[in-house]
Amino acid sequence: MAVHLGRPLASPGSAVNPHLVLSSTFHQGGSTSYARDGSPTWEGFEALVGGLEGGTCITFSSGMGAVSAVVESLPIPGRVVVASDAYNGTRRLLADLAGRGRLRYRTVDLASSADVLSACAELVEAPGRPSGTDGAFGAGGLLWLESPTNPLLTIADISALANGAHELGMDVVVDSTFASPLGQRPLDLGADVVVHSATKILSGHSDVLIGAVVTRRGDVSEQVSRRRTLHGATPGSLESWLALRGARTLWVRQSKAAASAGVLAQMLLAHPQVLRVFYPGLRSHPGHEVALKQMSDFGTMVSFEVLGGAVAADALCAALRLLTVATSLGGVETLIERRSRWAGEEAIPPGLLRMSVGIEDVDDLWSDLSDGLLAAEKAGECSGKHPAPTVTPGS
Ligand SMILES: Cc1ncc(COP(=O)(O)O)c(C=O)c1O
Repeated sequence: MAVHLGRPLASPGSAVNPHLVLSSTFHQGGSTSYARDGSPTWEGFEALVGGLEGGTCITFSSGMGAVSAVVESLPIPGRVVVASDAYNGTRRLLADLAGRGRLRYRTVDLASSADVLSACAELVEAPGRPSGTDGAFGAGGLLWLESPTNPLLTIADISALANGAHELGMDVVVDSTFASPLGQRPLDLGADVVVHSATKILSGHSDVLIGAVVTRRGDVSEQVSRRRTLHGATPGSLESWLALRGARTLWVRQSKAAASAGVLAQMLLAHPQVLRVFYPGLRSHPGHEVALKQMSDFGTMVSFEVLGGAVAADALCAALRLLTVATSLGGVETLIERRSRWAGEEAIPPGLLRMSVGIEDVDDLWSDLSDGLLAAEKAGECSGKHPAPTVTPGS
């Protein structure tokens, strides 16, 4: 599907790839009139992502554009239960909207399905249900899942939580960015909506910002595409074209990177400088059994905590020559960063590094990481305890 969906109809002499259409307006009388309502270049990417997830895809200018369109589709006041370690941008958006009275939300640890469902039950019983909105998306409350989470790789039991939340009358969203549509299919597991930061592994080359919402519910796709037109978070033509081209190789990139991630997670686990490894493919990961059940691989993200805290983690990054020290994830190049430096991630252990594994040779990656771990050890031995400054939020 990733290779073949979203191509133009075949006819002798016609292009195999979709055209890059650079036009903000279109001649009257056709199905497209203005590029904030729709553009032919989005359609290929939407066909591909919708096909992979098994629903209708609406693409946005970024992952946060997609997240915002779903949240803005809630009736007023919205009521949301969200993962306590969900992507910091999602949590900051909810906090911002809550501060302005648009919605109420509470956070919960996704690792415990019982805790999540009791938080949902409390939310449903609390006064303040929006009136006159019965049957509308999110009228009974919204459960916002992310699995695996960014950056702690917590696994939510999507089908158990979707069933439980539906019984309570709530709707369910899954941010599936870390898994990709090849790693898990949340709509098949019972979710109402999937969101992606397609900036990451879907497009795969760290060269575009783009997002996607996928759903089988006509009311939700109608609401969400209305938000796109009204709020204007439309993807650029070049971005959608590049994302489609990148997504063609999703399977080969993801297979290679996920295999390397598994190898590196094991090597890190055995290393004396490493305190903890967060990777759902490890048998020691608390979500391993659930991940086995709902994912087709364990993903390309590995987080690990080094001895010696922030000083040692920063020394590791400074010693690297092959891995790129930068935020974001899902590109062909391996990226690494210390997470607690970001605002909104103060609760993350100071020595925790998040690594997005790319498609380089795994021995080369390990050789570079080993040098970094040696540098971390030396820095840890002579560390003062000066916390590094927090800067603006990462992705
Ligand atoms: C899990 C997750 N969801 C959403 C986003 C937001 O995506 P974007 O940066 O494309 O707006 C990110 C960004 O890192 C993310 O990691």
